[in-house]
Amino acid sequence: MSSKKEILVTGGAGYIGSHTVVELIEAGYTPIILDDFRNSQKWIIDRIEDLTGNSIQVHEVDCCDEVAVEEVFNLYPNISGVIHFAADKAVGESVQNPLKYYSNNLSSLTVILKAMDNHDIKTLVFSSSCTVYGEPEKIPVTESTPIKEATSPYGDTKIISERIIKAEVDANKSLNAILLRYFNPIGAHPSGKIGELPQGIPNNLVPYITQTAKGIREELTVFGNDYDTVDGTNVRDYIHVVDLAKAHVAALDYANNQNEYSCEAFNIGTGKGSSVLEIVHAFEKVNNLKLNYKIGPRRSGDVVAIYAEVDKAKKALNWSSELDIDTALKDSWNWESNGIHNED
Ligand code: UD1
Repeated sequence: MSSKKEILVTGGAGYIGSHTVVELIEAGYTPIILDDFRNSQKWIIDRIEDLTGNSIQVHEVDCCDEVAVEEVFNLYPNISGVIHFAADKAVGESVQNPLKYYSNNLSSLTVILKAMDNHDIKTLVFSSSCTVYGEPEKIPVTESTPIKEATSPYGDTKIISERIIKAEVDANKSLNAILLRYFNPIGAHPSGKIGELPQGIPNNLVPYITQTAKGIREELTVFGNDYDTVDGTNVRDYIHVVDLAKAHVAALDYANNQNEYSCEAFNIGTGKGSSVLEIVHAFEKVNNLKLNYKIGPRRSGDVVAIYAEVDKAKKALNWSSELDIDTALKDSWNWESNGIHNED
C-alpha cells in the first residue's frame, strides 16, 4: 500500500472515527489512529482489525499533549492528511463543565494544526456539527445558513474551531480544510462488530431507544410533543454512521485534489427530516418489538426542527447518503441486542 495514503485519524477508536477507519481501509488508505481512549475502548481496534483484515497502527496519546503528538507525526513522514475527530461531545456536560470543553476541544485542535504546519501536511477534515446553525429561520439549512450564537459550550467549541481553522487557512495559504457539519449520526456497522458505546446514561435518542428495548433503561422519555412539527416532536436529520464515515473518504479525496488553499464546509446529512416519534415507531416496526416510552417535558436547548440541504456535498464531493433510517435502526438494534460489546 502506498505510504502517500497514510492518514492520521485522531479519535479513531470513537463511534464515528472507528467506522471511518474501516471505510478508509476499504478505500485503500492507511489510517494511523491517535486516541487516548478516554471515551472509547481498546478492543474496538481488535474489531476493526478483524473486520478489515489489516493491522492498525495505534498511538495512545492525548491530542492536547503537544510533545507526544509531535512524536507521532515524526514517526510517519508520509502522512498525507489528518481527520480530526478527537473531542468531548456531551452537550449537557459542557454546560456543567465548560472549561473541560473549551480546554480540550480547542487545545487539541491548535496542537494538531501546529503539528500539521510543522510537517507540511496540507489536508484536514474536521468534525463539525449542524449545531452551528442553532435554531434556523428556514429549513433545510444550506452551508450559507447563518451561524447562530451557540446554546452550549460544546456547540461554541464547534463554531470557534471552524473559525480557528479558517484563520489558519488564510494565514498559512497552503492548507485545504474541509469542515463536515454532521447531522445526527445513528446506526452501527452492519457486521455488528463496531457501534456506539455511550458511557453511562445515553444523552442521544437512538442509544436510549436501544438500551430501553434491551431492558437496560426502563422507559424512553420523548422530550416534548407540543412543538410546531408534523406530530409535535422535534425533527432531525438522522444519518447512518457508515454513510457519514464514507463522507470523510470523499472529503479527503476532494481536498487532496485542490491546488489552492481552501476552507469549505459541507452539510453531511440525508436531506430528510424525521420526528422523534417517527424514529420510535420505525424502530418498533423494523425490529418487530414494542418500546416503553412516555411523553415528557421539553429538554432545554433543543432546537425545534433541522435537516440538511445536501446538494453541495453531492456536487463537490460526489457523495450522498445511501442507507435509509430503517437500515440504520436495524443496525443499531443488531449492535445493541447481540451484546458482544458488553462481554469484552
Ligand atoms: C445533540 C447536539 C448536537 C450534537 C449531538 C451529538 C444540540 C442542540 N444538539 O444533537 O450538536 O452534535 O447531540 O450527538 O446541542 N430525545 C428524546 N429523548 C431522549 C433523547 C433525545 O426525546 O431520551 C430527542 C431530543 O429531544 C431531540 C432528538 O431526540 O429532539 C435527538 O436528540 P439527540 O440524539 O440528543 O441529538 P440532538 O440534540 O439533535
